[in-house]
Amino acid sequence: MQQDALFAISNGLYVLSANDNGRYVGSLIDAVSQVAINPNLVVVSCMNNSYTKEVIVKTGECALSILPADINPFVVANFGFQSSKTVDKWKLVKGQEVDGNIYIPNALAKIALKVVDKHVYQSHTLFIAEVKDAFDYVNHEPLTYRMYREGFKNKVMEEFERYRKTGHIPSEINNINQKGEKTMEEKKWTCIVCGYVYDGDVPFEDLPEDWVCPLCGVGKDQFELR
Ligand SMILES: Cc1cc2nc3c(=O)[nH]c(=O)nc-3n(C[C@H](O)[C@H](O)[C@H](O)COP(=O)(O)O)c2cc1C
Repeated sequence: MQQDALFAISNGLYVLSANDNGRYVGSLIDAVSQVAINPNLVVVSCMNNSYTKEVIVKTGECALSILPADINPFVVANFGFQSSKTVDKWKLVKGQEVDGNIYIPNALAKIALKVVDKHVYQSHTLFIAEVKDAFDYVNHEPLTYRMYREGFKNKVMEEFERYRKTGHIPSEINNINQKGEKTMEEKKWTCIVCGYVYDGDVPFEDLPEDWVCPLCGVGKDQFELR
């Protein structure tokens, strides 16, 4: 099958965002590639019915967040399974605003783009864009389209189904701060020897001084907030 053969092309997954007169919009995309280095040019391909595409056509600007392999599946569902025409996606997933753009806080890198050329085809519009800024690089594993097809998609669909039925949004998404780090409320006292995470009703600080880790037996001084 031709489509199977084309799946052999390696793509990552990204959140493409744009600023619609003060309201941020965004879409999940896989069709991104760096195609030149002097200047740094990136090609971004948007489906013609994407609202994010409409905004980029108007403003000539957009931004990319490179998704990590351990991204919460709800983030992928939020940006890939519904349209900014009807949903304020950045209200459901808190973003990090930098210079008029918005990013996924724990992205592996954040890239601000200025469109320099555009090609419209029947299904998609290709934007050729110059890199204005690229920052917050983290050397972790990226989420790939292959991972998505081979299992991650099921988690994304489950999470979206749960959201549609109950309105549930996983709390860890919005408990990360603007730098993509966990907030203090989200951090847990963790044993640095064996990794045991304290989850008791008594606040950790109030446990007696001779309290020991139930797994490996070390004292309280071997615990850190992580
Ligand atoms: C795994 C996956 C990959 C996608 N890749 C692209 C893509 O490369 N370009 C695109 O325009 N849409 C892509 N989409 C579809 C958009 O994310 C989707 O149509 C979204 O609802 C558009 O939102 P918008 O109308 O707010 O822009 C992809 C969706 C998924 C689930």
